[in-house]
Amino acid sequence: MLKVLVCVSGGGTNLQAIIDAISNNKITNAKIVRVISNNPGAYALKRARDAGIDGICISPKDYADRGLFHEGLLRAVREKEPDLIVLAGFMVVLPEEMIQAYRNRIINVHPSLIPSFCGTGFYGLKVHEKVLERGVKVTGATVHFVDEGTDTGPIILQKAVAVEDNDTPEILQKRVMEQAEWQILPRAIDLIANDRITIQSGKVHIQD
Ligand code: GAR
Repeated sequence: MLKVLVCVSGGGTNLQAIIDAISNNKITNAKIVRVISNNPGAYALKRARDAGIDGICISPKDYADRGLFHEGLLRAVREKEPDLIVLAGFMVVLPEEMIQAYRNRIINVHPSLIPSFCGTGFYGLKVHEKVLERGVKVTGATVHFVDEGTDTGPIILQKAVAVEDNDTPEILQKRVMEQAEWQILPRAIDLIANDRITIQSGKVHIQD
């Protein structure tokens, strides 16, 4: 049974998609052992509580400096000995020590087709604002492994979503979540939980 730890910062709709996929067996061989939020007010923490999952807040505001916050975060992760860490809308740059300790065991969902509209400054609604500014006709979402760069790790799954003429950033964000993120994030976890993913030369291969 894959022990999954989920890191969140906000609404937690991706967390909810994972919780639902576990309860309806779209994800098998996995359980969520903890949810960590950097934001005490995150609705995601309520979702964890409602599902009977251990949910805790590790806020930078409760630590004297960034180094101590990073230590606190890593301690809260290690306590649960997770096999997989899922960043589901986690708006914190991970400490390098955590990336090294959990190499190829951290995945992230990003609301665009990487390598478009990603990297520093591209997160949440901002991604969809930039997509609309540029006028692309197709966007989507990506699930990838996390390495030391920003959105640079091996890509696991991607799904395209159409941009429509009258889209606002909010409308587009919702469509990308519904049609892409909430599908491919649970799917990626299921693939990992069932040993169907390998990484060779920085590329992900999926066994049928
Ligand atoms: C999601 O759209 C996720 O892809 C994005 O934040 C949102 C969180 O929503 N993540 C990033 O932009 C990371 N670079 P949620 O809290 O409702 O799951």
